Amino acid sequence: MKDRISELLEEVSKMSAENADQLEALRIKYLSKKGEISSLFNDFKNVAAEQKREIGGLLNELKTKATERIAEMKAEFDAQQAKADAPDVTRTPDPIEVGTRHPLSLVKNEIVDIFSRIGFSIAEGPEVEDDWHVFSALNFPPEHPARDMQDTFFITREPDVLLRTHTSSVQSRVMTSQQPPIRVLCPGRVYRNEAISYRAHCFFHQVEGLYIDKNISFADLKQALLYFAKEMFGEQTQIRLRPSYFPFTEPSAEMDISCNICGGEGCAFCKNTGWVEILGCGMVDPAVLEACGIDSKVYSGYAFGLGVERITNLKYRVKDLRMFSENDVRFLDQFKSAF
Ligand code: PHE
Repeated sequence: MKDRISELLEEVSKMSAENADQLEALRIKYLSKKGEISSLFNDFKNVAAEQKREIGGLLNELKTKATERIAEMKAEFDAQQAKADAPDVTRTPDPIEVGTRHPLSLVKNEIVDIFSRIGFSIAEGPEVEDDWHVFSALNFPPEHPARDMQDTFFITREPDVLLRTHTSSVQSRVMTSQQPPIRVLCPGRVYRNEAISYRAHCFFHQVEGLYIDKNISFADLKQALLYFAKEMFGEQTQIRLRPSYFPFTEPSAEMDISCNICGGEGCAFCKNTGWVEILGCGMVDPAVLEACGIDSKVYSGYAFGLGVERITNLKYRVKDLRMFSENDVRFLDQFKSAF
């Protein structure tokens, strides 16, 4: 028995395990109820009385050594595991993708900001409208081509329910629900039945403005638009107004700004004219005021409407209008730094 104990002592001192499973196997082999050491303890009763003291001492030593060695190895494995589980504070963090504002939102917000500094507040209205707010109230004669199926998306006919073709419909809503002074800006999406190409889409965005009060003149309109052009495109920007026609304004005009690419010298972008068109405007036709319940002998006003895509193109040189609605992150990512 003594020999067996010293053999086991030798074995136990050399015991090693590569992983927790192997260690458990060792524990079972030596220390479990049916293990080697326990069976020696079972045999102890057969040891002669005069040897009991010595052999008992050796057996206890063996058991202690085995227990200690196994505990020691377990502590090592536990420490290794804890290290593996701990987060690596030196690792580079996972990059978090920061979203971008859509370029049309950026530009719309900028337009709204500029006009709100001179007293305009926002008015909004539905995209699905009736004929009266989009056309009749705004002096569109019944035979006007804009009312045609080719231009307007109708949802039902008689009564006509349609997708608004301009945000002037919000202006008719404001004029019928409120008396002057009125100074509102109407941003929103509009729809026209156009073939989709790089220069036209079946929906786009407008910001229209309306100012009605006593003694509002064309000079007020021109001053507000000049202020806008300089704020939007820089102090050096010049404007020019060309006579035009809209059913709801009289007189009407289209406004050009000096080409912000060549500075007015003439380039391919402005077709060598030095000017680019940016908006339509005019004095609200008295017939429109009357249709909406505003006394045209007391009040006058101006209106203007601009396309957000157009202004965005001028600011960011986006050549294909379709980019705005495709949600291509390679395009949108380029506006990350634009606040
Ligand atoms: N509503 C016009 C359009 O959609 C723009 C406009 C608004 C023109 C106000 C003059 C005055 O084209």
